[in-house]
Amino acid sequence: MNGAMTVDGKIATTGGDSKISSKEDLVRVHKLRASVDAILVGISTILADNPRLTVRLVKGSNPARVIVDSRGRLPIDSQIICTASKIKTIVAVTDQAPEEKIHKLEDMGAQVLVVSKGERGQSAAVPHGVNLKELFHRLEKMRLRRILVEGGGELNWSLLRLGLVDELTVAIAPKIAGGRLATTLVEGDGFEEIAQSIRLELGKVERNKTGELLLHYKLV
Ligand SMILES: NC(=O)c1ccc[n+]([C@@H]2O[C@H](COP(=O)([O-])OP(=O)(O)OC[C@H]3O[C@@H](n4cnc5c(N)ncnc54)[C@H](OP(=O)(O)O)[C@@H]3O)[C@@H](O)[C@H]2O)c1
Repeated sequence: MNGAMTVDGKIATTGGDSKISSKEDLVRVHKLRASVDAILVGISTILADNPRLTVRLVKGSNPARVIVDSRGRLPIDSQIICTASKIKTIVAVTDQAPEEKIHKLEDMGAQVLVVSKGERGQSAAVPHGVNLKELFHRLEKMRLRRILVEGGGELNWSLLRLGLVDELTVAIAPKIAGGRLATTLVEGDGFEEIAQSIRLELGKVERNKTGELLLHYKLV
């Protein structure tokens, strides 16, 4: 899992601006993308940013893109779908996605996986979301084993809560965005007590030329 956040933990501003880290850090992210089998993101990130999720700033091949989108809201004119005939694109939906939309996505070159609904406790905010454990099994069978999660906060919570994350890298930009409605690195329901929280082990700590701090953690 990788994310770029401000010192106050925001991964986007209240206005939805998520361009937090420097070009230098983006180069690191593109290198990371070139080293994985697939990138996984939540549908709200696509709707907010309309990203391409490709390798552009370094040499390397594009990994598959996997969008977690239970209701099939991924726009047909999104950059992801417009490039789906060239770059492997998987849309993980549940039975809530309209069949007609599934066909449209497939016509554009995307592969649609109909996955069961998530277990209760995955996230109260997304009670009928995609069953992420099942999705990971299906991706593994498709030989997509090294997965880079690029957010947003809701998807990050569900994956961390289910114990599906091995490593976390956070780029902390020397900025403060504020705003109680700004999305943070991990959203979801949260824990009531620190004793319940997810434990991390700090590995490498780096500081880049832009003054950003890179923290590499392993999940305990
Ligand atoms: N700075 C960064 O590093 C960075 C990186 C990524 C995103 N962002 C920002 O983060 C914001 C979006 O984050 P977000 O937290 O609002 O949304 P998100 O995590 O991108 O997407 C959440 C949505 O995914 C769908 N979903 C389906 N199954 C799910 C499951 N099991 N668990 C969780 N979600 C599931 C749900 O929508 P349905 O119910 O419709 O399926 C859910 O509302 C944007 O502003 C984006 O710019 C920043």
